[in-house]
Amino acid sequence: MSISIAIMAAGLGTRMKSTLPKVLHEISGFEMLYHIIKESQKISDDIHVILYHQADLVQEKMNRYFSGIHYVIQDHQNFPGTGGAIRGVVPKYEKLLVLNGDMPLLEAENMQNFTHLEADVVMSAFTCKEPFGYGRVIMDSHQNVLKIIEEKDASVEEKKVTAVNAGVYLFKSDFLKENLPKLSNENSQKEYYITDLIALANAQNKMVKALFVDENTFMGVNSKYHLSIAEELMQERIKRRFMEQGVSMRLPSTIYIEADVQMSGECKLENGVSLLKGTVLENAHIKAHSVVQKSVIKNSDIGPMARIRPDSLIEDTHIGNFVEVKKSTLKGVKAGHLSYLGDASIDEGTNIGCGTITCNYDGKAKYQTIIGKNVFVGSDSQLVAPVTIADDVLIASGTTVTKNIPKGALAINRAPLKIMEGFFYKFFGKNHA
Ligand code: UD1
Ligand code: CA
Repeated sequence: MSISIAIMAAGLGTRMKSTLPKVLHEISGFEMLYHIIKESQKISDDIHVILYHQADLVQEKMNRYFSGIHYVIQDHQNFPGTGGAIRGVVPKYEKLLVLNGDMPLLEAENMQNFTHLEADVVMSAFTCKEPFGYGRVIMDSHQNVLKIIEEKDASVEEKKVTAVNAGVYLFKSDFLKENLPKLSNENSQKEYYITDLIALANAQNKMVKALFVDENTFMGVNSKYHLSIAEELMQERIKRRFMEQGVSMRLPSTIYIEADVQMSGECKLENGVSLLKGTVLENAHIKAHSVVQKSVIKNSDIGPMARIRPDSLIEDTHIGNFVEVKKSTLKGVKAGHLSYLGDASIDEGTNIGCGTITCNYDGKAKYQTIIGKNVFVGSDSQLVAPVTIADDVLIASGTTVTKNIPKGALAINRAPLKIMEGFFYKFFGKNHA
């Protein structure tokens, strides 16, 4: 069955206490709204996103990922509230699934479950220990939903109800068209509530059904604290899926993986590892407390405490502790300790000694360092870019390379070592301890 989807994302998000619109706060590297649109697209080709506050900014961000989404600007002045939000939506299909933009954990199959129930209105509910902030679901003795009452409008008795409105609804489009104009804003917030449609449907003897759903999956993010809980749940989900596919993780609760990371083959992640957006691993061992961002790593081991910055390609390579790599290609390389390799291309069999630095920036522009095969770069060398080092080169420890080095050469620029015997005692005196 084809359905239309409306995602309400026009609210101020006051409780986030932030200048950023609520739905642009990120979970696992992506905006909350991104997650819900991405899942919606799996089941619908008619998606409406309702915006108001900083609509341009939200739209601009989403345009980077998605096309074919209908953006609807809510008439917030005249019709504030969730009931006002969907007034402007014209669904293409007979049924409209309404989602809150602040539900980053919802997945396509959770959405699909609504379509299995036949009714004029399907609403969603769960029971929770801390219902504060949620609309309470008032039911009769047969578990029929009578109405939803918002926290701010609830009586002391009603507040004790632990069945809450999860905030996702499936409406017959005709029912909405007929009843949205009937909503009133006579409540404590002077807003139009989508939740009032339940009582309206009952008054017209329309069929209302409740779908009981998982509290965690349907959690709404209203504050930074909620955001942190949603992040933990999302991380648990992401990591569990990878482990089920055969990725090993040491102390997974300390590992952070963003939502689009890909791993294949035999991958191993140690504690404290962060894999950020755009990272692709194949048979990689990432050791403790390393950070990898937007890079491809194959058949290699990295860290501990290494940082791989965007646009690096690392294959058949060993990267040790305190090595930073940026926008570089390393194939069959060893860089065991304390180095900065930026804007570099380094070929097979090359060894980068401890403390090697590619000096890639002169304060104005960035330059390339090209290193060939089987090069031995001695410890504490500086390679001043742009510079090319051919195959089979030996660079002596402590050398500052400022010219291209031809194949097979030794590069050395060392000040001669002076030894002045007895200088210590002359300088400090004979009895210096
Ligand atoms: C809403 C429900 C509540 C439910 C909870 C579930 C209403 C009146 N209340 O409360 O019963 O338990 O979700 O999480 O619907 N929005 C707009 N335009 C507006 C106002 C809000 O688009 O004028 C959007 C928000 O951006 C947000 C969503 O609607 O994505 C929900 O709004 P929010 O203020 O978070 O509602 P809750 O108080 O959480
Ligand atoms: Ca909410």
